Amino acid sequence: MKVVIIGATKGIGRSVARILAERGDSLFVLGRNGDELARTKQDLEARRSSLSVGAAHCDLLDVSTIGPALDEADRALGGFDTVVVTAGLFGTQEEIENDADLRDRVLQANFVGTIQFCEAAKALLLSRGGGRLCVLSSVAGEKARKPVVIYGATKAGLTAYLNGLDARHYADGLRVVVVKPGFVRTTMTANLPEPPFAGDVEPVARDIVKAIDRESSEIYTPWIWRWVMTAVRMLPRGFMRKAKF
Ligand SMILES: NC(=O)c1ccc[n+]([C@@H]2O[C@H](COP(=O)([O-])OP(=O)(O)OC[C@H]3O[C@@H](n4cnc5c(N)ncnc54)[C@H](OP(=O)(O)O)[C@@H]3O)[C@@H](O)[C@H]2O)c1
Repeated sequence: MKVVIIGATKGIGRSVARILAERGDSLFVLGRNGDELARTKQDLEARRSSLSVGAAHCDLLDVSTIGPALDEADRALGGFDTVVVTAGLFGTQEEIENDADLRDRVLQANFVGTIQFCEAAKALLLSRGGGRLCVLSSVAGEKARKPVVIYGATKAGLTAYLNGLDARHYADGLRVVVVKPGFVRTTMTANLPEPPFAGDVEPVARDIVKAIDRESSEIYTPWIWRWVMTAVRMLPRGFMRKAKF
């Protein structure tokens, strides 16, 4: 595969990029921090001899960076066929409620910026008959809950967008892979209380790569979260008002 990935500097995205590099895919990494990008490029190139990884600046909070970054990736890879979006921003409900600037950044990065990025990536993929677009949403978008009122809303909106994209462009060759991680131990969740069924980055990344290879339309990872959320989705509003989670 010829893969562009945004979010490979940390967490789940870093692990996905490492798997792809080690098994022989071509890679181009996008991110907002030049030093982190350079470290990521070096780390990936060290995983396979003769691998050359391209990198370009792209910030989901600055829509003007998206088009030029994707064009550069496209030129460098000779036309990418796969786009992976693991970039995202989290804040606790209290942090987001009390900080209007953080609130704005979470809404922008996870919803507006990600959709703008997907629209630009989708246009390039469709211009040559399609390809794979794999995006990390979240189980937080499946059910409105007290600790993730705003973060969860961004992911609910993102999932709705991705499902719409699948409906609109499947016949054109676009394969949208919606990933719904449960709780995964990364920098994003480092300071959060750990719920049951927490997962580790590497198995989650392997699930994601498998989903891309199979062009699965939706996965939950760790897998058990599919059944956890089946139960949680059925909880009535009155219960959610009293629930602590
Ligand atoms: N961890 C979980 O439990 C969990 C659960 C459900 C869903 N998810 C979702 O899975 C995805 C990956 O999560 P993670 O845990 O791997 O997070 P992470 O370790 O915090 O990594 C987030 C990545 O997003 C990048 N990023 C953040 N804001 C950006 C921006 N404005 N422009 C470009 N890149 C940006 C970061 O780049 P920098 O290096 O520059 O910071 C980093 O590479 C996210 O979408 C998250 O919402 C995670």
